Amino acid sequence: MAKNKTVLVTGASGFVGGALARHLAGQGMTVRALVRDRAKAAYIDGVPGVELVDGDLGHELSLRKAVQGCAQVYHVAAALGGSPDHQTQVNVEGTRLLAAAAAQAGVQRFVHVSSIAIYGFGRSLPDVITEDTPPAPSNYAYTITKRAAEGVLRLIAAQTGMAYSIIRPGMIYGPRSNPWTVQMSALATRFPVIPFIGDGRGHIAAVHIDDVVSMCALAGEHPSAAGQAFNCAADPGVTWRDFLTAYAKHSGRSGRWLGIPTGLVRLFMPLVKLTAPAGSIVKDMPAVLDHHLRPVVYSNEKARRVLGWQPHWPIEDGLTDAAAWLASR
Ligand SMILES: NC(=O)c1ccc[n+]([C@@H]2O[C@H](COP(=O)([O-])OP(=O)(O)OC[C@H]3O[C@@H](n4cnc5c(N)ncnc54)[C@H](OP(=O)(O)O)[C@@H]3O)[C@@H](O)[C@H]2O)c1
Repeated sequence: MAKNKTVLVTGASGFVGGALARHLAGQGMTVRALVRDRAKAAYIDGVPGVELVDGDLGHELSLRKAVQGCAQVYHVAAALGGSPDHQTQVNVEGTRLLAAAAAQAGVQRFVHVSSIAIYGFGRSLPDVITEDTPPAPSNYAYTITKRAAEGVLRLIAAQTGMAYSIIRPGMIYGPRSNPWTVQMSALATRFPVIPFIGDGRGHIAAVHIDDVVSMCALAGEHPSAAGQAFNCAADPGVTWRDFLTAYAKHSGRSGRWLGIPTGLVRLFMPLVKLTAPAGSIVKDMPAVLDHHLRPVVYSNEKARRVLGWQPHWPIEDGLTDAAAWLASR
Protein backbone atom coordinates (compact mmCIF):
# COMPACT_ATOMS: atom_id res chain seq x y z
CA MET A 1 0.00 0.00 0.00
CA ALA A 2 1.49 3.33 -1.08
CA LYS A 3 1.97 5.77 1.79
CA ASN A 4 1.76 9.56 1.81
CA LYS A 5 -1.24 9.68 -0.50
CA THR A 6 -4.24 11.80 0.19
CA VAL A 7 -7.48 9.86 -0.16
CA LEU A 8 -11.13 10.69 0.42
CA VAL A 9 -13.49 8.43 2.36
CA THR A 10 -17.21 9.28 2.21
CA GLY A 11 -19.62 7.98 4.83
CA ALA A 12 -16.79 8.28 7.34
CA SER A 13 -19.17 8.95 10.23
CA GLY A 14 -20.80 5.58 9.55
CA PHE A 15 -19.95 1.98 10.39
CA VAL A 16 -17.97 0.94 7.29
CA GLY A 17 -16.55 4.36 6.42
CA GLY A 18 -15.22 4.88 9.95
CA ALA A 19 -13.46 1.50 9.95
CA LEU A 20 -12.03 2.11 6.48
CA ALA A 21 -10.82 5.63 7.33
CA ARG A 22 -8.96 4.32 10.37
CA HIS A 23 -7.45 1.44 8.41
CA LEU A 24 -6.18 3.63 5.56
CA ALA A 25 -4.74 6.16 8.00
CA GLY A 26 -3.03 3.27 9.77
CA GLN A 27 -1.44 2.36 6.43
CA GLY A 28 0.17 5.80 6.26
CA MET A 29 -2.35 7.57 4.05
CA THR A 30 -3.69 11.04 4.70
CA VAL A 31 -7.41 10.42 4.93
CA ARG A 32 -9.93 13.14 4.22
CA ALA A 33 -13.05 11.93 5.97
CA LEU A 34 -16.22 13.42 4.49
CA VAL A 35 -18.85 14.00 7.18
CA ARG A 36 -22.16 15.83 7.36
CA ASP A 37 -22.19 16.15 11.12
CA ARG A 38 -18.95 16.19 13.11
CA ALA A 39 -20.82 15.21 16.26
CA LYS A 40 -21.36 11.76 14.70
CA ALA A 41 -17.68 11.30 13.87
CA ALA A 42 -16.22 10.62 17.33
CA TYR A 43 -14.84 7.24 16.19
CA ILE A 44 -12.44 8.89 13.73
CA ASP A 45 -12.08 12.41 15.13
CA GLY A 46 -8.53 12.93 16.37
CA VAL A 47 -7.18 9.70 14.84
CA PRO A 48 -3.68 10.45 13.47
CA GLY A 49 -3.81 10.79 9.69
CA VAL A 50 -7.55 11.47 9.56
CA GLU A 51 -8.79 14.96 8.75
CA LEU A 52 -12.53 15.68 8.92
CA VAL A 53 -13.98 17.62 6.01
CA ASP A 54 -17.56 18.86 5.84
CA GLY A 55 -19.61 17.70 2.89
CA ASP A 56 -22.84 16.24 1.64
CA LEU A 57 -23.57 14.11 -1.41
CA GLY A 58 -26.24 16.65 -2.34
CA HIS A 59 -23.84 19.62 -2.30
CA GLU A 60 -21.71 19.56 -5.41
CA LEU A 61 -19.32 22.29 -4.28
CA SER A 62 -18.47 20.45 -1.08
CA LEU A 63 -17.63 17.36 -3.14
CA ARG A 64 -15.50 19.29 -5.62
CA LYS A 65 -13.49 20.72 -2.75
CA ALA A 66 -13.18 17.37 -0.98
CA VAL A 67 -11.72 15.49 -3.97
CA GLN A 68 -9.07 18.10 -4.84
CA GLY A 69 -5.62 16.54 -4.64
CA CYS A 70 -6.91 13.06 -3.80
CA ALA A 71 -5.27 10.04 -5.41
CA GLN A 72 -8.18 7.79 -4.50
CA VAL A 73 -11.80 8.15 -3.51
CA TYR A 74 -13.50 5.49 -1.37
CA HIS A 75 -17.20 6.10 -1.79
CA VAL A 76 -18.87 4.44 1.16
CA ALA A 77 -21.73 6.86 1.97
CA ALA A 78 -25.25 5.83 1.11
CA ALA A 79 -28.84 6.06 2.27
CA LEU A 80 -29.72 2.60 3.55
CA GLY A 81 -33.33 3.55 4.08
CA GLY A 82 -35.85 6.35 3.57
CA SER A 83 -38.21 6.98 0.70
CA PRO A 84 -37.36 5.81 -2.82
CA ASP A 85 -36.85 9.47 -3.82
CA HIS A 86 -34.45 10.06 -0.96
CA GLN A 87 -32.45 6.93 -1.78
CA THR A 88 -32.34 7.93 -5.45
CA GLN A 89 -31.04 11.39 -4.54
CA VAL A 90 -28.32 10.12 -2.20
CA ASN A 91 -27.31 6.83 -3.80
CA VAL A 92 -27.68 7.59 -7.49
CA GLU A 93 -27.42 11.36 -7.87
CA GLY A 94 -24.89 11.62 -5.04
CA THR A 95 -22.68 9.02 -6.72
CA ARG A 96 -23.06 10.88 -10.02
CA LEU A 97 -21.91 14.20 -8.51
CA LEU A 98 -19.03 12.62 -6.59
CA ALA A 99 -17.79 10.49 -9.50
CA ALA A 100 -17.94 13.45 -11.90
CA ALA A 101 -16.06 15.65 -9.42
CA ALA A 102 -13.46 12.92 -8.88
CA ALA A 103 -12.94 12.40 -12.61
CA GLN A 104 -12.55 16.14 -13.16
CA ALA A 105 -10.01 16.37 -10.32
CA GLY A 106 -7.93 13.57 -11.85
CA VAL A 107 -8.56 10.99 -9.13
CA GLN A 108 -6.67 7.82 -10.07
CA ARG A 109 -9.02 5.23 -8.55
CA PHE A 110 -12.64 5.46 -7.43
CA VAL A 111 -13.60 2.59 -5.11
CA HIS A 112 -17.35 2.30 -4.80
CA VAL A 113 -18.96 0.34 -1.98
CA SER A 114 -22.04 -1.27 -3.45
CA SER A 115 -23.88 -4.33 -2.09
CA ILE A 116 -24.87 -7.89 -2.96
CA ALA A 117 -28.39 -6.43 -2.81
CA ILE A 118 -27.87 -5.36 -6.44
CA TYR A 119 -28.51 -8.97 -7.51
CA GLY A 120 -32.00 -8.82 -6.01
CA PHE A 121 -33.76 -11.86 -4.64
CA GLY A 122 -35.65 -14.76 -6.02
CA ARG A 123 -35.83 -18.21 -7.39
CA SER A 124 -34.35 -17.15 -10.73
CA LEU A 125 -30.98 -16.49 -9.10
CA PRO A 126 -28.55 -19.42 -9.11
CA ASP A 127 -27.25 -21.09 -5.93
CA VAL A 128 -23.80 -19.61 -6.60
CA ILE A 129 -23.89 -15.92 -7.49
CA THR A 130 -20.85 -14.52 -9.26
CA GLU A 131 -20.13 -10.96 -10.34
CA ASP A 132 -21.59 -11.85 -13.77
CA THR A 133 -24.95 -13.06 -12.45
CA PRO A 134 -27.74 -10.94 -13.96
CA PRO A 135 -29.80 -9.21 -11.24
CA ALA A 136 -33.38 -10.31 -10.57
CA PRO A 137 -36.17 -7.73 -10.93
CA SER A 138 -36.85 -5.80 -7.74
CA ASN A 139 -39.25 -3.35 -6.10
CA TYR A 140 -36.86 -2.62 -3.23
CA ALA A 141 -35.55 0.96 -3.45
CA TYR A 142 -32.18 0.13 -1.86
CA THR A 143 -31.53 -2.63 -4.42
CA ILE A 144 -32.69 -0.47 -7.30
CA THR A 145 -30.68 2.60 -6.30
CA LYS A 146 -27.48 0.72 -5.41
CA ARG A 147 -27.70 -0.99 -8.81
CA ALA A 148 -28.30 2.33 -10.55
CA ALA A 149 -25.36 3.89 -8.68
CA GLU A 150 -23.04 1.28 -10.16
CA GLY A 151 -24.41 2.11 -13.61
CA VAL A 152 -23.84 5.83 -13.14
CA LEU A 153 -20.26 5.23 -12.03
CA ARG A 154 -19.52 2.95 -14.98
CA LEU A 155 -20.91 5.54 -17.38
CA ILE A 156 -18.83 8.39 -15.96
CA ALA A 157 -15.75 6.16 -15.91
CA ALA A 158 -16.32 5.25 -19.57
CA GLN A 159 -16.76 8.91 -20.51
CA THR A 160 -13.74 10.19 -18.59
CA GLY A 161 -11.31 7.27 -18.36
CA MET A 162 -11.33 7.32 -14.54
CA ALA A 163 -10.37 3.93 -13.11
CA TYR A 164 -12.87 2.46 -10.68
CA SER A 165 -13.55 -0.68 -8.66
CA ILE A 166 -16.78 -1.87 -7.10
CA ILE A 167 -17.04 -3.87 -3.87
CA ARG A 168 -20.29 -5.72 -3.17
CA PRO A 169 -20.40 -6.73 0.50
CA GLY A 170 -22.97 -9.00 2.09
CA MET A 171 -24.26 -8.50 5.63
CA ILE A 172 -21.38 -6.85 7.45
CA TYR A 173 -21.04 -7.98 11.05
CA GLY A 174 -18.41 -7.38 13.72
CA PRO A 175 -17.54 -4.54 16.12
CA ARG A 176 -19.90 -1.54 15.65
CA SER A 177 -22.33 -3.37 13.34
CA ASN A 178 -25.84 -2.52 14.45
CA PRO A 179 -28.01 -4.76 12.24
CA TRP A 180 -25.80 -7.84 11.98
CA THR A 181 -24.18 -7.87 15.43
CA VAL A 182 -26.20 -5.80 17.91
CA GLN A 183 -29.64 -6.68 16.50
CA MET A 184 -28.88 -10.28 15.55
CA SER A 185 -27.38 -10.97 18.96
CA ALA A 186 -30.49 -9.44 20.54
CA LEU A 187 -32.70 -11.71 18.42
CA ALA A 188 -30.63 -14.73 19.43
CA THR A 189 -30.67 -13.96 23.14
CA ARG A 190 -33.93 -12.14 23.90
CA PHE A 191 -35.91 -15.36 24.48
CA PRO A 192 -34.96 -18.81 25.81
CA VAL A 193 -35.24 -19.99 22.17
CA ILE A 194 -34.22 -18.39 18.86
CA PRO A 195 -37.42 -17.59 16.96
CA PHE A 196 -36.80 -17.62 13.21
CA ILE A 197 -38.63 -18.43 10.00
CA GLY A 198 -38.06 -22.03 8.93
CA ASP A 199 -35.26 -24.37 9.92
CA GLY A 200 -32.44 -21.84 9.45
CA ARG A 201 -30.67 -23.95 6.83
CA GLY A 202 -30.68 -21.11 4.29
CA HIS A 203 -27.60 -18.90 4.09
CA ILE A 204 -26.78 -15.47 5.44
CA ALA A 205 -24.17 -13.75 3.28
CA ALA A 206 -22.21 -12.58 6.32
CA VAL A 207 -18.80 -10.89 6.16
CA HIS A 208 -16.66 -9.43 8.93
CA ILE A 209 -16.03 -5.67 8.79
CA ASP A 210 -12.24 -6.19 8.73
CA ASP A 211 -12.58 -8.28 5.58
CA VAL A 212 -14.64 -5.62 3.82
CA VAL A 213 -12.09 -3.00 4.77
CA SER A 214 -9.17 -5.09 3.52
CA MET A 215 -10.91 -5.74 0.20
CA CYS A 216 -11.66 -2.02 -0.27
CA ALA A 217 -8.03 -1.16 0.47
CA LEU A 218 -6.77 -3.72 -2.05
CA ALA A 219 -9.23 -2.51 -4.67
CA GLY A 220 -7.86 1.00 -4.27
CA GLU A 221 -4.33 -0.09 -5.13
CA HIS A 222 -4.32 -3.26 -7.20
CA PRO A 223 -3.75 -2.64 -10.93
CA SER A 224 -6.00 -5.56 -11.90
CA ALA A 225 -8.90 -4.23 -9.82
CA ALA A 226 -9.58 -1.41 -12.28
CA GLY A 227 -12.93 -1.73 -14.03
CA GLN A 228 -13.92 -4.74 -11.92
CA ALA A 229 -16.61 -5.60 -9.37
CA PHE A 230 -16.00 -8.01 -6.48
CA ASN A 231 -18.37 -9.89 -4.21
CA CYS A 232 -17.41 -9.76 -0.53
CA ALA A 233 -19.39 -12.32 1.50
CA ALA A 234 -19.06 -15.70 3.21
CA ASP A 235 -17.83 -18.33 0.76
CA PRO A 236 -18.40 -21.13 1.68
CA GLY A 237 -21.75 -19.99 2.99
CA VAL A 238 -22.91 -19.91 6.58
CA THR A 239 -26.43 -20.87 7.66
CA TRP A 240 -28.70 -18.49 9.56
CA ARG A 241 -28.92 -21.19 12.19
CA ASP A 242 -25.14 -21.34 12.75
CA PHE A 243 -24.90 -17.54 12.67
CA LEU A 244 -27.61 -16.92 15.25
CA THR A 245 -26.73 -19.92 17.40
CA ALA A 246 -23.16 -18.65 17.72
CA TYR A 247 -24.41 -15.34 19.17
CA ALA A 248 -26.67 -17.26 21.58
CA LYS A 249 -23.89 -19.57 22.73
CA HIS A 250 -21.48 -16.69 23.23
CA SER A 251 -24.06 -15.25 25.64
CA GLY A 252 -24.35 -18.50 27.53
CA ARG A 253 -27.72 -19.47 25.97
CA SER A 254 -28.66 -22.92 24.71
CA GLY A 255 -29.29 -21.67 21.18
CA ARG A 256 -32.41 -23.83 20.91
CA TRP A 257 -34.23 -23.14 17.64
CA LEU A 258 -37.92 -22.26 17.32
CA GLY A 259 -38.73 -22.57 13.63
CA ILE A 260 -41.80 -20.56 12.66
CA PRO A 261 -43.49 -22.54 9.88
CA THR A 262 -42.85 -20.89 6.52
CA GLY A 263 -46.39 -21.76 5.41
CA LEU A 264 -47.78 -19.62 8.23
CA VAL A 265 -45.57 -16.67 7.23
CA ARG A 266 -46.60 -17.02 3.60
CA LEU A 267 -50.25 -16.87 4.64
CA PHE A 268 -49.87 -13.32 6.01
CA MET A 269 -47.49 -12.13 3.32
CA PRO A 270 -50.00 -10.65 0.86
CA LEU A 271 -51.48 -8.43 3.57
CA VAL A 272 -48.09 -7.34 4.92
CA LYS A 273 -46.88 -6.65 1.40
CA LEU A 274 -49.96 -4.61 0.58
CA THR A 275 -49.57 -2.36 3.62
CA ALA A 276 -45.76 -1.98 3.41
CA PRO A 277 -44.42 1.43 2.30
CA ALA A 278 -43.38 1.79 -1.35
CA GLY A 279 -39.79 0.76 -1.92
CA SER A 280 -39.46 -1.28 1.28
CA ILE A 281 -37.92 -4.75 1.18
CA VAL A 282 -41.30 -6.24 2.04
CA LYS A 283 -42.48 -5.27 -1.46
CA ASP A 284 -40.08 -7.94 -2.77
CA MET A 285 -41.78 -10.69 -0.76
CA PRO A 286 -42.07 -13.64 -1.20
CA ALA A 287 -38.85 -13.56 -3.28
CA VAL A 288 -36.84 -12.33 -0.27
CA LEU A 289 -38.15 -15.13 1.91
CA ASP A 290 -37.45 -17.75 -0.75
CA HIS A 291 -33.95 -16.37 -1.16
CA HIS A 292 -33.08 -16.54 2.53
CA LEU A 293 -34.43 -20.08 2.82
CA ARG A 294 -31.94 -21.22 0.14
CA PRO A 295 -28.24 -22.07 0.59
CA VAL A 296 -27.12 -19.27 -1.74
CA VAL A 297 -23.40 -18.46 -1.91
CA TYR A 298 -21.99 -15.17 -3.24
CA SER A 299 -18.74 -16.42 -4.69
CA ASN A 300 -15.61 -14.52 -3.66
CA GLU A 301 -13.40 -16.57 -5.98
CA LYS A 302 -12.79 -13.51 -8.17
CA ALA A 303 -11.44 -11.39 -5.32
CA ARG A 304 -9.15 -14.20 -4.21
CA ARG A 305 -7.88 -14.77 -7.75
CA VAL A 306 -7.58 -11.17 -9.00
CA LEU A 307 -6.72 -9.28 -5.82
CA GLY A 308 -5.08 -12.04 -3.80
CA TRP A 309 -7.62 -11.15 -1.10
CA GLN A 310 -8.10 -13.61 1.75
CA PRO A 311 -10.68 -13.15 4.48
CA HIS A 312 -8.91 -12.77 7.80
CA TRP A 313 -11.86 -14.10 9.80
CA PRO A 314 -13.31 -17.60 9.41
CA ILE A 315 -16.94 -17.24 10.46
CA GLU A 316 -16.58 -18.91 13.88
CA ASP A 317 -13.64 -16.65 14.82
CA GLY A 318 -15.32 -13.59 13.36
CA LEU A 319 -18.41 -14.18 15.48
CA THR A 320 -16.22 -14.69 18.55
CA ASP A 321 -14.67 -11.30 17.80
CA ALA A 322 -18.12 -9.74 17.39
CA ALA A 323 -19.30 -11.31 20.64
CA ALA A 324 -16.21 -10.05 22.47
CA TRP A 325 -16.97 -6.54 21.25
CA LEU A 326 -20.59 -6.86 22.41
CA ALA A 327 -19.42 -8.01 25.83
CA SER A 328 -16.99 -5.09 26.09
CA ARG A 329 -19.63 -2.42 25.48
N1 LIG B 1 -23.81 -2.50 6.76
C1 LIG B 1 -23.96 -3.50 5.89
O1 LIG B 1 -24.23 -4.66 6.29
C2 LIG B 1 -23.78 -3.25 4.42
C3 LIG B 1 -23.90 -4.34 3.54
C4 LIG B 1 -23.66 -4.15 2.18
C5 LIG B 1 -23.33 -2.89 1.71
N2 LIG B 1 -23.26 -1.84 2.57
C6 LIG B 1 -22.88 -0.54 2.03
O2 LIG B 1 -21.83 -0.03 2.83
C7 LIG B 1 -21.89 1.39 2.85
C8 LIG B 1 -21.84 1.88 4.28
O3 LIG B 1 -22.88 1.31 5.03
P1 LIG B 1 -22.89 1.44 6.62
O4 LIG B 1 -23.43 0.17 7.16
O5 LIG B 1 -21.59 1.95 7.08
O6 LIG B 1 -24.02 2.56 6.81
P2 LIG B 1 -24.11 3.73 7.88
O7 LIG B 1 -23.43 3.36 9.13
O8 LIG B 1 -25.55 4.12 7.91
O9 LIG B 1 -23.29 4.90 7.20
C9 LIG B 1 -23.79 5.62 6.11
C10 LIG B 1 -22.93 6.83 5.95
O10 LIG B 1 -23.39 7.56 4.80
C11 LIG B 1 -23.49 8.92 5.19
N3 LIG B 1 -24.46 9.64 4.37
C12 LIG B 1 -25.77 9.38 4.22
N4 LIG B 1 -26.33 10.31 3.43
C13 LIG B 1 -25.34 11.18 3.08
C14 LIG B 1 -25.29 12.36 2.30
N5 LIG B 1 -26.39 12.87 1.71
N6 LIG B 1 -24.11 12.99 2.17
C15 LIG B 1 -22.99 12.50 2.77
N7 LIG B 1 -22.98 11.41 3.54
C16 LIG B 1 -24.14 10.75 3.69
C17 LIG B 1 -23.92 8.88 6.65
O11 LIG B 1 -23.70 10.13 7.25
P3 LIG B 1 -24.44 10.56 8.64
O12 LIG B 1 -23.64 9.92 9.74
O13 LIG B 1 -24.35 12.03 8.63
O14 LIG B 1 -25.84 10.03 8.54
C18 LIG B 1 -22.99 7.78 7.15
O15 LIG B 1 -21.71 8.28 7.39
C19 LIG B 1 -23.16 1.76 2.09
O16 LIG B 1 -22.80 2.12 0.79
C20 LIG B 1 -23.98 0.49 2.10
O17 LIG B 1 -24.84 0.44 0.99
C21 LIG B 1 -23.46 -1.99 3.92
